Amino acid sequence: MDFLKPRSHRMNRRRRIYEGKAKVLYEGPEPGTLIQHFKDDATAFNAKKHEVIEGKGVLTNRISEYIFQRLNDIGVPTHFIRRINMREQLIREVEIIPLEVVVRNVAAGSLATRLGLEEGAQLPRSIIEFYYKNDQLNDPMVSEEHITAFGWAAPQEIDDIMALAIRVNDFLTGLFLGVGIRLIDFKVECGRLWEGDNMRIVLADEISPDSCRLWDVKTNDKLDKDRFRKDLGGMIEAYTEVARRLGVVQDNEIPHSGGPRLVQ
Ligand SMILES: Nc1ncnc2c1ncn2[C@@H]1O[C@H](COP(=O)(O)OP(=O)(O)O)[C@@H](O)[C@H]1O
Ligand SMILES: [Mg+2]
Repeated sequence: MDFLKPRSHRMNRRRRIYEGKAKVLYEGPEPGTLIQHFKDDATAFNAKKHEVIEGKGVLTNRISEYIFQRLNDIGVPTHFIRRINMREQLIREVEIIPLEVVVRNVAAGSLATRLGLEEGAQLPRSIIEFYYKNDQLNDPMVSEEHITAFGWAAPQEIDDIMALAIRVNDFLTGLFLGVGIRLIDFKVECGRLWEGDNMRIVLADEISPDSCRLWDVKTNDKLDKDRFRKDLGGMIEAYTEVARRLGVVQDNEIPHSGGPRLVQ
């Protein structure tokens, strides 16, 4: 009598593959697929700072869906198949390359600190950085030498990852500029997707205000996770504004106190 149970109970029967800081991965309906569930948890500084921001997972799911779908449309290979509900999307399971690939256009965050640059200074050109994805080690920055020496990715794979990252950067820069947002920097993860004997590198994980720095073109207001990192408040409002500008949520869907709520 499974159908009599609330939807949430039925969904808990699925096998949970992994629970991370912001998302949960469940076994998908077919082999080679997973369900990516976006939680409301906000974490920063390797989870030393943690809060639950009600409704965040709905917005990151919708924004990431929109961006990945647009990338699929222009032929950038991604893990994204389709959104299933307000918090979940169907994705292809990939072998994650244990790197956080950061693309920077403007000085901010750790780059500004490390090199003594003024936050907001345009960089001479876009810069790609690699961090080894390892929470115990605080995701240390690594070079291509480390990546190949320790076998995290082959030289050809690094080339593919960099080409992918640059394409995504060019596309996202234009997409956001069109809605009055400056793309300062962002982080992506890539994975190996096997199709028979062939393997290709595809974009995985998520792209959302949790993984990008997004500033309003006119006011320089931060519309991303820095609102949480820096205790600026208004995180959900900022994420909602990004979703609204991208046309991902309609004005009548936007939650406001007293009115109908977006989240179940
Ligand atoms: N297509 C995919 N296949 C397998 N794993 C994935 C895929 N996309 C993302 N992942 C992994 O799923 C996890 C997403 O959950 P998240 O909360 O971001 O975890 P973490 O705390 O490790 O960053 C990440 O570890 C990410 O590497
Ligand atoms: Mg993550």
